[in-house]
Amino acid sequence: MSFLDQIEPLKHAALAEFSAAADLAALEQAKVAFLGGNGKFTALLKQMGSLSKEEKPAAGKLINVAKAELEAKLAERRGELELKAALPKDPTDFTLPGRRRPLGKLHPLTQTVEDIVRAFRKIGFAVADGPEIEDEYHCFDALNTPADHPARDSQDTFYLATDKRPLLRTHTSSVQIRVMKSQQPPIRIVIPGRVFRRDNADATHNPTFHQIEGLYVDKGVTIGDLKGTVEFVFKELMGSDTKIRFRPHYFSYTEPSLEIDFQNALVKKMGKEWLEIAGCGMVHPQVFENVGYDPEVWSGWAFGFGVERIAMLRGGINDIRLFYENDARFLRQF
Ligand code: DAH
Repeated sequence: MSFLDQIEPLKHAALAEFSAAADLAALEQAKVAFLGGNGKFTALLKQMGSLSKEEKPAAGKLINVAKAELEAKLAERRGELELKAALPKDPTDFTLPGRRRPLGKLHPLTQTVEDIVRAFRKIGFAVADGPEIEDEYHCFDALNTPADHPARDSQDTFYLATDKRPLLRTHTSSVQIRVMKSQQPPIRIVIPGRVFRRDNADATHNPTFHQIEGLYVDKGVTIGDLKGTVEFVFKELMGSDTKIRFRPHYFSYTEPSLEIDFQNALVKKMGKEWLEIAGCGMVHPQVFENVGYDPEVWSGWAFGFGVERIAMLRGGINDIRLFYENDARFLRQF
């Protein structure tokens, strides 16, 4: 075979091997086999010396063109193989669902409200709701709270305007009035909700917090029912070692009025004997009059307690402000 006739087949053989190289090492081997000191293409170059003067220029040109083509192919294939080496070994299946998607969870206050409501549902209570923006009638007057009562002072209550005196409810007791005005007894409800007071924020106070109100109205309801109910719910919530104590107190909408203290291992751990947890009492006859119930026929009791305080106890939380800061490191723990 003439010299010139050997160039093309050899070039094609080299191109085919470069293309077939599966990785960079194989490509390097193929390069050495053709273009290395002892390579086949180099051997062809060495034969140039034996050519005649007339043959040399054309052969040189052809060989240079072929060599440039081989170098270009080498660079291209090297680029492909480098990219392949940088990709992950196992193929990625983009149709696989995420294995541990963080779904988020309920806020500890929401969890506490849900637990309390669940306990009351077990004994036949339904959930009621009412507005956070209230008026003086539902928040105070109908609850028998006189106009000169300190709770009505603008030092303690957020008033929204001076004319019709809308306000941010200071307790969920306002919803008692709304429910009783809209339906007849028997009534057995709990009312979870947000309330507002002009407190400065410190470790145990915040200008907004949450309460759960309860109201039970029927014929022949007694204070014994109240005690039994409160005891059942707190044992469900805080464990069977929970003890309840009732102390006389004053609320304008109940008579008699009581404060509920409770005790369990958690309270003792805090170095306390009893912790005040709720207010309650038998619904005042005047309140029944105000909503149009006959106090000679109906009797009932009501209570209200703070959700934050219970959530703090259950979670060993010592600063109420943590609930409102939305720090995920805090929230993730519950
Ligand atoms: N409203 C009271 C408070 O915010 C709690 C309370 C006491 C609610 C006695 C009641 C009740 O329904 O009967 O401190």
